[in-house]
Amino acid sequence: NVLPPLRSFLADDQFSKAQLLALIDLAINIKKHPADYSQALAGKSVAMIFEKPSLRTHVSFDMGINKLGGHALYLGQQNGKLGERERVSDYAKNLSCFADVIVARVFSHKSIQVLAEHASIPVINALCDVYHPCQALADFVTLSENFPDLSQVKLAYVGDGNNVSNSLMLMAAILAVDFTLVCPEGHEPQADIIEKTKQLAQESGSKFILTNDIDAIGKQDVIYTDTWISMGDEDANKKADILAKFAPYQVNHALMAKAQANMLLHCQPAHLEEEITTELFDSELSKVFQQAENRMWAQNAVLVTLLAN
Ligand code: NVA
Repeated sequence: NVLPPLRSFLADDQFSKAQLLALIDLAINIKKHPADYSQALAGKSVAMIFEKPSLRTHVSFDMGINKLGGHALYLGQQNGKLGERERVSDYAKNLSCFADVIVARVFSHKSIQVLAEHASIPVINALCDVYHPCQALADFVTLSENFPDLSQVKLAYVGDGNNVSNSLMLMAAILAVDFTLVCPEGHEPQADIIEKTKQLAQESGSKFILTNDIDAIGKQDVIYTDTWISMGDEDANKKADILAKFAPYQVNHALMAKAQANMLLHCQPAHLEEEITTELFDSELSKVFQQAENRMWAQNAVLVTLLAN
């Protein structure tokens, strides 16, 4: 499927295999030869809107942009909530007057769509309720570094069907990576994302399995997990029920052994002893800090590509 050059980086179902492979290659090249890209964003400014907390995304964008010779400006919520003091569309139009790229972490995907629709500059989704494409791209960079042939990798995600798993399963399907999602009943990804993933997996010839049965995990190379309660979904009254319901889905050494998996991924922050044991998170199997570092290289590849287009 041939797609036009990337204008923005918004949602994982909008990328072609060729675009993703090119971004992964570029990320690895920037990581190996950072000096070659030290002026790639010279004179360029990136406005970064954050509606939610962030460690890795905020720091990796800021320092990554610095490594490319550009300038990053953090816009938190000190001026009030996005869309309250002025319309999101006007926010996009104003930022387009000064900046060259908008990076946005928002509660609702709708805000990303409105920003992209009204900005005259590229917009990068730095996490919303539905997608986390920067994370998924970094994850496939990490897998490319650890496996000689991405298409032979068997990847399973165990836990809550959320923004991280949505991006991961869509990208896996595009890249022809076999993907299994195991989650408790009622915590599956939304229906349209499941349908899109099935369609993309069929096109690429990869497998996509969705199950509630943790005992059916099968042989995997990599197991990935994320928090059981995402930002914006916190509800003190429901926490005890969630912890009890998800307990059988905890990713630990026993599950890794059962799946014969030898790599653990987690986007972080980890809720130790909830979705993941401390022992496994800190173990040799864990590649979580390589994954974290690759956020910066993956995002730099996206920035360089968007500005070149
Ligand atoms: N699913 C998590 C990811 C955090 C990086 C959340 O949205 O809170």
